[in-house]
Amino acid sequence: MSRLGELFPRADLPSVRLGSSPTPVRQAVGLGPEVWIKDDGAFGDGAWGGNKVRKLEWIIPEAHRRGRSTLLTVGGIGTHWGLAAALYGADHGLRTVLGLVDQPVDDHVRDQLRRLEASGALIHRYRSVARLKLAAPWLLLRYSQRGHLPYYLPAGGSSPVGTLGYVEAALEIADQVAAGELPEPATIVTAVGSGGTAAGLALGLRLAGLSTRVLGIVVNDAFRLDAVTVAGLANETVELLRDRGAEVDLRLTADDLDTTAEWMGQTYGAPTPEGQAALGRAADLGLELEPVYTAKAVAAVLGTADRLDRPVLLLGTHGPR
Ligand SMILES: Cc1ncc(COP(=O)(O)O)c(C=O)c1O
Repeated sequence: MSRLGELFPRADLPSVRLGSSPTPVRQAVGLGPEVWIKDDGAFGDGAWGGNKVRKLEWIIPEAHRRGRSTLLTVGGIGTHWGLAAALYGADHGLRTVLGLVDQPVDDHVRDQLRRLEASGALIHRYRSVARLKLAAPWLLLRYSQRGHLPYYLPAGGSSPVGTLGYVEAALEIADQVAAGELPEPATIVTAVGSGGTAAGLALGLRLAGLSTRVLGIVVNDAFRLDAVTVAGLANETVELLRDRGAEVDLRLTADDLDTTAEWMGQTYGAPTPEGQAALGRAADLGLELEPVYTAKAVAAVLGTADRLDRPVLLLGTHGPR
């Protein structure tokens, strides 16, 4: 049973197991004093892992409950989320349609595009978000099946349902703290691309009674991802929990978490010197890093060492296989 299911035994919260938990935590070497790493890249039993798989544990049963056989979602041409949706969706009888928008191309994005093309996803490419938005009604109709529209999921799987994945992960962290595997973190650092990971963590930490604060390292300028927006997503997730019968009376505000775009560079996917330097440290950190998200999160930990409240827990979210 999920930790959320244990916390709210009377609520209707179906999930499917896609990875083994808890994911490992360990003290980090080379990131300054009192820094711990939780390796969520290890999450996921399939051909891709990481933070998107946790969201799919809740999204896949929701698609089935809505009677849908197709997922429709969007992202950049290097989307990790789209790849995870295609691979794990196919394992559970769902086909995935992807509307992909161009982003700066480097080796990582080229590799990712190859994986996407091999994943079985039905891919449509657009030069800009505006063009994708114009095409969206056509995509919805084109891929309707047996009178059902596809189940549309926002970029990154950051719907309230997807966000449950990181509420669950926060409850897992609280258990690891209680078991003495790490001290209660003052700060959890995570990359923010669409907000679901940070929102779920912030909500789950409150539910678990920890006073840990989330520091979200924003790497995407395609959406508003400030603390107000992320807290808003957490509150939509509270509403969802209530609709499903959970007795939860919480409201997050922008004061409950922090986000910063200081490490993004020019745009989503644009390389930064600090990110590139962090990539060069991946081997000594023993973490899988890529340039778009995790390298920038590590750069933030290295670059703000004097400003972070400790202990710090860095969330490793990248899970290539
Ligand atoms: C490796 C990696 N880390 C972090 C993130 C950010 O997570 P979120 O989209 O939930 O903000 C993503 C996806 O966007 C990702 O692929």
